[in-house]
Amino acid sequence: MATRILGTGSAMPERIVTNKDIEGFLDTSDEWIRERTGIGSRHIAITETTTSLAAEACRKALEDAGKKPEDVDLIIAATVSPDYTFPCLACQIQAEIGAENATAYDINAACAGFLFALNSATAYIECGMYKNALIVGAEVLSKIVDWNDRTSCILFGDGAGAAFIGEAEEGVVAMEQGANGSKGMVLFRHETPVQNPFCEGGQSAEHQGSSFLEMNGQEVFRFAVSQVPESIQKVLVKAGWEISDVDHFVLHQANARIIHTIAKRLGEPEEKFPMNIERYGNMSSACIPVLLDELNKSGQLKRGEKLVLSGFGAGLTYGATAIIW
Ligand code: COA
Repeated sequence: MATRILGTGSAMPERIVTNKDIEGFLDTSDEWIRERTGIGSRHIAITETTTSLAAEACRKALEDAGKKPEDVDLIIAATVSPDYTFPCLACQIQAEIGAENATAYDINAACAGFLFALNSATAYIECGMYKNALIVGAEVLSKIVDWNDRTSCILFGDGAGAAFIGEAEEGVVAMEQGANGSKGMVLFRHETPVQNPFCEGGQSAEHQGSSFLEMNGQEVFRFAVSQVPESIQKVLVKAGWEISDVDHFVLHQANARIIHTIAKRLGEPEEKFPMNIERYGNMSSACIPVLLDELNKSGQLKRGEKLVLSGFGAGLTYGATAIIW
């Protein structure tokens, strides 16, 4: 018995923001952004919320799998930009779609979040605790990026992707994941400081600080191009596959240059590394499921093909999963 992806779905905010739109208020250019990142535009939430996007992606994944909300046993939502710290996004989704039989909780593994959710749900299904799960990566990063910081805000976009997974003859073959907390501060969102009536100075708005994301881009770049190939090599060993056996490498979409470098380091042709970053930018946990959904719905994935998914991000977190589609 294995765990297979049985349906996928995705949802995007309506508003598309091009690089040219950003040129209007920041000292940057379409040319610089395209050349350094491969990004041309991104979707940005205006009326949508993390919950509304996630719920829409989940409904579509259920429809694709031919399942009803009440069939779902488990919902794991991966996000760094939930609408509320609590109740968690997964519980909000449960209520929104009417999955009253599901248990639900969130995980935060940043851009590796969807992959960690897939691995966690797979472990539950394989140990027999649940028969199926809805896993979702959903972000409205536009509310936590600093729109005055040209080195980071140009990278990110909003969106959600989901997959319904369940018991099958074949599917997930091997999983690999890791973390390096000592490098956590190369990509972080500012802390919530301790402040209460017993602290010196008491409780004041002044103490609230910035809640924006901050990043050392070059450090993250170096981490990604060394760690992702290593994770992929490790998962291939666990799966007992040769690298040439893999039909598609579905990677986190952080930067087109990162993906080109990883392809080169692995010695694999770029055609095996599908990309949609040009249209969406980096949507953190939503990148992998949105790309999977596009590949699935456009008929680019054939049942029986070998896929390696790989994500990396804040934490630092990283991992790879080998699956038979
Ligand atoms: N527009 C124009 N110029 C910009 C700019 C922008 N949006 N952002 C930075 N610059 C400038 C810098 O100020 C610097 O100018 P200087 O040479 O006069 O000092 C110059 O461009 C080069 O900056 P640098 O930081 O060296 O660029 P880079 O080639 O490293 O590219 C990133 C920057 C952020 C695109 C790249 O480091 C990256 O993608 N890193 C990974 C980030 C990531 O993926 N994060 C999420 C992980 S999940």
